[in-house]
Amino acid sequence: MKKPWSGRFKQSTDTLMEQFSASISFDRRLYAYDIEGSIAHCQMLAKCKIISQAESKKIVGGLKRVLKEFESGKFQCDDRLEDIHMNIESRLTELVGSVGGKLHTARSRNDQVCLDIRLYLRDEVAEIVQGITQLAKTLLQLARKHTDTIIPGYTHMQQAQPILLAHHLLAHIEMLVRDRERMEDAFKRINVMPLGAAALSGTGFPIDRKYTAKLLNFPEVSHNSIDSVSDRDFAIEFCSASGILMMHLSRFCEEVVLWSSCEFGWLELSDAYTTGSSIMPQKKNPDAAELIRGKSGRVYGNLVSMLTLMKSLPLAYNKDLQEDKEPVFDTVDTVKVSLAIFEGMMKSAHFKKIPLDRVDISGFLTATDMADYLASKGVPFRQAHEITGQTVAYCIASGKTLQDITLKELKKISPKFNADVFDHITLENSVQKKNVYGGTAKKQVLAQIARLEKKLKIKSTIGEKK
Ligand code: ARG
Repeated sequence: MKKPWSGRFKQSTDTLMEQFSASISFDRRLYAYDIEGSIAHCQMLAKCKIISQAESKKIVGGLKRVLKEFESGKFQCDDRLEDIHMNIESRLTELVGSVGGKLHTARSRNDQVCLDIRLYLRDEVAEIVQGITQLAKTLLQLARKHTDTIIPGYTHMQQAQPILLAHHLLAHIEMLVRDRERMEDAFKRINVMPLGAAALSGTGFPIDRKYTAKLLNFPEVSHNSIDSVSDRDFAIEFCSASGILMMHLSRFCEEVVLWSSCEFGWLELSDAYTTGSSIMPQKKNPDAAELIRGKSGRVYGNLVSMLTLMKSLPLAYNKDLQEDKEPVFDTVDTVKVSLAIFEGMMKSAHFKKIPLDRVDISGFLTATDMADYLASKGVPFRQAHEITGQTVAYCIASGKTLQDITLKELKKISPKFNADVFDHITLENSVQKKNVYGGTAKKQVLAQIARLEKKLKIKSTIGEKK
């Protein structure tokens, strides 16, 4: 088969080399964006009188036919034509004749491929932003149901202080809100029009880059033709924001796995998002959470692939850059499905009633409150901490908890203890006392729910078509 670049070649390409350099098996996914970009480019060429209106009409008509062939599954991709760009151009020429060859005037595949990835990522990032919002909304629903449920908060995976379950869920929502902001921010740098850079130095044809940008709904054109064809920062930023998002999901997944274990027994996952064991009939495994936790690894891997791909790469275009697509595509696929599965898993899950004696298994969850009590009576906090520490040691030695130690025993440790101490160390009062902005008191948690509700209601404007 004759290559579009075959003019200076005498021998044909080695067959293995042909397969090795072909990207069509994966960049095929860009077909709609490639055609959209080509239509805009062609209309711009006509507007600038570089080709005639009649020629433009013919080419645009042909491109639309090619699009239909893709959509109906009729398009035959050919490895020998390397990539999506040459496959489409070659078919176009078959359909409309030699005028199809005018489409590539004032353009190179170097700027064309950048445009395609940017168009593609614009749509995908907009979808991911919606997925994050949807998940955050579902979690907010769940938080609303649990503004009275007390759970132990942990540090070092040891029981630390009582908190509201809603408060804990809101912590995860805060992370997701930042993930959404990171995606929206990456979108700004994706949303730049590179066409017109051609191979690397621009073009001698009197094109109108701003017109192409307008047709494709880009607010900005790139400012340096060399950078335009070399830059993949925008894709790296996307992979990085995705890595952080997956890291957040993996932390939540870890908790879902723990909470649904019989040792915790807090969370019941639905049958729809769990699987059984082929040998142990009693098993109901939290596979959805485990898989998302596991998939965070490949998303980090994709980020590292992209960074390594770009490291030390000289300007401008190098064929290495063809390797950017698979990590980006895999990141998009993994993030989208993880968000959807996580949302479904949490929407169909329910928290079981957690009895208070199960909340305070250690028996010392409100030790800080005891120290705070003493501090509020004028004992310096360090001393109050020491006295409470002695109280805990005494309890452990005598097989008691803070709840069943008597005032007489307490007075022996410190005369500062009075009968009102017991009020200070109930789980409920401990929670309600944390009435600082951002704290776990119900009043604060309700305020944060209202704030997040408002925030999530604001529709993201990214990715909106004209
Ligand atoms: N398939 C190529 C890629 O993805 C398109 C650009 C090829 N440019 C070139 N000069 N060979 O990077």
